[in-house]
Amino acid sequence: MSDTTENTSEKKGFIRRFLDAPADSVGKTVFVAVALCLVASMIVSAAAVALRPTQEVNALKDKQRNILQVAGIYDPEIDVVEAFAAFEPQVVELATGAFTDQFDPTTFDDRAAAEDPATSVALSDDPAGIIRKGNFATIYLLRDDAGAIDKVILPIHGYGLWSTLYGFVALEENGNDIFALQFYEHAETPGLGAEVDNPRWKALWNGKKLTDENGELQINVSKAATAAGADYHIDALAGATLTSVGVNNLVQFWMGEAGFAPFLSNLKEGKL
Ligand SMILES: Cc1cc2nc3c(=O)[nH]c(=O)nc-3n(C[C@H](O)[C@H](O)[C@H](O)COP(=O)(O)O)c2cc1C
Repeated sequence: MSDTTENTSEKKGFIRRFLDAPADSVGKTVFVAVALCLVASMIVSAAAVALRPTQEVNALKDKQRNILQVAGIYDPEIDVVEAFAAFEPQVVELATGAFTDQFDPTTFDDRAAAEDPATSVALSDDPAGIIRKGNFATIYLLRDDAGAIDKVILPIHGYGLWSTLYGFVALEENGNDIFALQFYEHAETPGLGAEVDNPRWKALWNGKKLTDENGELQINVSKAATAAGADYHIDALAGATLTSVGVNNLVQFWMGEAGFAPFLSNLKEGKL
């Protein structure tokens, strides 16, 4: 009798045996777990793919909002895309400081270009910790009603303590006085390095100057003012010296010869 039963069970196919097994058998438990994982991962992947265009639009809007804020013209009542139309984007060739029409400034991707060997260089002297520097950068001009440049918004980025900080510096029309500085992306520690977003610390940048009357770059973020004086000094963040050193290095890099200095001299000389 038992021999017959065993023989019958051996003859059952794999699927039959699986279906006949109790609900809490190891086989069925593993099957349900794997099936659940597969279905969940398919749903997550589909959601990620479907939401990517929305995420890209939102990321662009967030960047535009930051440009409006750093230029001091952000109004939450006005649609960001509509307000952003006030800016004139231009792609600058960093080495010459001249505008280029090789790229469409409304779609030029600074970050992608900085990773492409055809449009970037690897840095041997790299105080901002960015490894590669794009040869081109998108800047934003804000003009007054008469068409004269009122503010210039320059992109900046560089390494802090834990992350690369991405932001903008807004300069007055003279290309030397700082109107504002703002980061729109970083992963520094809340309460420490992330205090770069504290409105009181950001307000310290207003009215500071990049270069002295001899054209020497003097702007610095440090615990104590340098000999150049208060006009060029921003207090380092308390308890976040390392992020502050990063901000100091990246601002000096981008405002210096390797960054926007050639463009700023063109601006000062009225060559744009
Ligand atoms: C969990 C943790 C997170 C930290 N995050 C930061 C940070 O984001 N930026 C920073 O400069 N220092 C950060 N620090 C502190 C640094 O290690 C270092 O002590 C500090 O930069 C020195 O600044 P101080 O000379 O002003 O005290 C962090 C420390 C800890 C323990």
